Amino acid sequence: MTLRSAGRALTISSLSIVNETLAARVIDLGCGTGRLALGLAAAGHTVTGVDPARASLAAARAKPGADRVTWIEGTSAVLPDAAFDVAVMTSHVAQFFVTDTGWRQALADLHRALVPGGRLIFDTRDPRARGWERWNPADSRREVRLPDGRDVIATTDISAVADGVVSFTIDYAFSDETRLLSTGDLRFRTEDELRSSLRAAGYAVEQIYGGWNREPVGADDGEFLVIPRA
Ligand SMILES: C[S@@+](CC[C@H](N)C(=O)[O-])C[C@H]1O[C@@H](n2cnc3c(N)ncnc32)[C@H](O)[C@@H]1O
Repeated sequence: MTLRSAGRALTISSLSIVNETLAARVIDLGCGTGRLALGLAAAGHTVTGVDPARASLAAARAKPGADRVTWIEGTSAVLPDAAFDVAVMTSHVAQFFVTDTGWRQALADLHRALVPGGRLIFDTRDPRARGWERWNPADSRREVRLPDGRDVIATTDISAVADGVVSFTIDYAFSDETRLLSTGDLRFRTEDELRSSLRAAGYAVEQIYGGWNREPVGADDGEFLVIPRA
């Protein structure tokens, strides 16, 4: 599966899960360039997209249909109280909350922003699959054509794995010889850690799935799909 078709499949599956709540008020936290937020708005939901990355939001705002979404540059701290029926975090946004303090705060903010019984829907990678072991320059190589006509080859390499945190570097080599290195950390939480942190933040957690098609845990390539209720 290519990156583009994987993205399309994720959007379709996540849309159908949100669609279980009709005409919902939806917060897309970590909305990035708005792929899901725009699809949700087109499906009739009232959508707010929040992301701290200004450049991603600028790209989202430039897309067709962007005026149907409320875009906010910021984090979960900006969310109003009891204003949403559904909150989503797709493409492993949950793993960007590396520290326990940051994760607790995000869960508390989302709980405050949801109406009682509202659903939080998010994916995160199962550490038991040890997916980071395949994040090496050979296996992770991907080539993308940019809108400005340049090609870029991106490769990922791991610099450290400790205490559930995977530190990585992405090397972007552009066809005009420009080079860009980007570093980051992602937190991998176990099913027990997810359940206990969600319970502590006041959510009711039922089944945890193994992917966006509600597969059983362990059935696919190491995903969790979590749908707790506030
Ligand atoms: C892998 S992208 C996913 C984007 C989008 N959800 C999607 O499915 O295409 C992760 C996003 O999380 C955002 N992010 C990182 N830290 C965040 C935080 N503390 N609060 C909200 N979003 C954050 C990043 O800026 C980035 O846009």
